[in-house]
Amino acid sequence: MVKIDLPVVAVNFKTYPQATGERAVALAKTCETVSKESGVSVVVAPQIPDIYRVSLAVDIPVFSQHLDPGDPGRYTGHVLGETLVESGCSGTLINHSEKRMQLADIEDAIRKAETLGLYTIVCTNNPLVSVAAAALNPSAIAVEPPELIGTGISVTQAQPEVISGTVDQIRVVNENVTILCGAGISTGDDVVASIRLGAQGVLLASAVAKSDKPGDVLRGLVEPLLK
Ligand code: G3P
Repeated sequence: MVKIDLPVVAVNFKTYPQATGERAVALAKTCETVSKESGVSVVVAPQIPDIYRVSLAVDIPVFSQHLDPGDPGRYTGHVLGETLVESGCSGTLINHSEKRMQLADIEDAIRKAETLGLYTIVCTNNPLVSVAAAALNPSAIAVEPPELIGTGISVTQAQPEVISGTVDQIRVVNENVTILCGAGISTGDDVVASIRLGAQGVLLASAVAKSDKPGDVLRGLVEPLLK
């Protein structure tokens, strides 16, 4: 499985037009440049049809935005782990708030990813779901209050107690899982606050993917983490 040095900045491209097709390749290259300049881990999650072309273009980890449990064969329309691996993926988001899954399928997807060596980030919408996800032992959990996603209002300012409280609850059931937080993360100060609240990195999207100057935004995000 790919080793992700912490802290990590994970950039979800969602379905933003500015981060689609050849623009996904350009954005991933910008993320790679900033990661190499700064020494800070940056992971990109383009749309699934863009994974192959992005993987060919960059050396930083490329993640899927989703994985379905299921095996090669009669699974029309499923996002298959084996195909993600062949496309150059080294990990996947699971259960993003914009692509929720049932608990049993989340577990199947984590186990399937494990057998394929894919790193798993399970996204969670509240403390109880975070604890349930932690019990399934993914590689990482990304705590993201849905009401703040895409608002530009940082979870670290709007709901700091949700992050620190969730970290404490997760640690009761899982001492080792990596914990990220997200929703509205836009600046280096937000990243610093995330780490102070107990997270080991951030998952973000709009601040970078929708920016006219994504390199500048990303440099601002990693600046306090410079090694
Ligand atoms: O997956 C990242 C996410 O849902 C947060 O989005 O736009 O608030 O950074 P955003």
